[in-house]
Amino acid sequence: MTRCYNFCAGPASLPEPVLETARDELLDWHGRGLSLMEMSHRSPEVMGVAQRAEQTLRELLGVSQDYAVLFLQGGASTQFSAVPLNLLGEHRRADYVNTGQWSKKAIAEGRRYGDINVVASSEDTRFSTIPPRDTWQLGADAAYLHYTPNETIGGVEFFWTPQVDAPLVADMSSTLLSRPIGVDDFGVIYAGAQKNIGPAGLTLVIVRRDLLGRAHALCPAMLNWQIAADNDSMYNTPPTFALYLSGLVFDWLQEGGGLAAMEACNRRKAQKLYAAIDHSDFYANPVELASRSLMNIPFTLADPALDQQFLAEAERAGLLNLKGHRSVGGMRASIYNAVSEAAVDALIAFMRDFEQHRG
Ligand SMILES: Cc1ncc(COP(=O)(O)O)c(C=O)c1O
Repeated sequence: MTRCYNFCAGPASLPEPVLETARDELLDWHGRGLSLMEMSHRSPEVMGVAQRAEQTLRELLGVSQDYAVLFLQGGASTQFSAVPLNLLGEHRRADYVNTGQWSKKAIAEGRRYGDINVVASSEDTRFSTIPPRDTWQLGADAAYLHYTPNETIGGVEFFWTPQVDAPLVADMSSTLLSRPIGVDDFGVIYAGAQKNIGPAGLTLVIVRRDLLGRAHALCPAMLNWQIAADNDSMYNTPPTFALYLSGLVFDWLQEGGGLAAMEACNRRKAQKLYAAIDHSDFYANPVELASRSLMNIPFTLADPALDQQFLAEAERAGLLNLKGHRSVGGMRASIYNAVSEAAVDALIAFMRDFEQHRG
């Protein structure tokens, strides 16, 4: 068996030890004579897996009991609706920062439910910057401020936490677990699982408990965080296998030294790749230096006519999913936690070789 290096933006690479454990336990989970996939979500086994996953996640991120940890479904996109439905309250106004395609989607969905004020936008720089905090035009009475700490498509990341009076709501889909964060700075953190958490199908919401119980009367039960919290995320059948795999990923992170160790590795990986891009006249990354993502690194070739050839040769070399998002073109290497330093080294060597032969 040959496993390739996978730079997919999501569903992304999973740690090999996690896949190996899942393989070994697939038919007979812990001697129970059946797969975890085949067990009731109310069984002590599955409830235990869910509780352990939550506990390990709390330890990794430092999540206090002031916050509920919810394991939901519907992806981060469903939270674009759940956030306003749970938080807008009576004034029905909220602030949003627009730093890219995912911010725009959250804003568009928010506008279905309330008066959304875009406090700042970097669209005029083609989303290659982050608008400085002192330029933001905050609205009065905003129920919350929503932003996207890492824009997966543009490769732009906040390395500072906005200070605002309203509760801070963050779509952390493509940055959560890549480095330590101060959870207490946030009202709500949400993320689709399929980058650093686990497989697609699971959505994580971490919500400060005082923000529960504010949902609009028409908020569907399945989107209501209070109902999810009251039912330990088991109001309906949860995605048990995705939860189990995510728990294995959390164990893997903890065994590897936690998020500080992960951050050190992620910074090394990103620095190498940016250096390779910057030291070449053939490759380019458009993002301002201070906001370059650690997780998603878009880059272009000097001659876009070579894009297809680059992708085809990369694939032959075992380097997969380097095509940029269809809305921006070019290339993108997503180097999430499970993408090893060896994978990044192999990509850099390939890029140098391609430049020499075709550039
Ligand atoms: C930052 C960000 N937000 C939201 C989404 C949408 O996530 P989902 O597909 O889980 O709905 C993505 C998907 O890549 C993302 O990267």
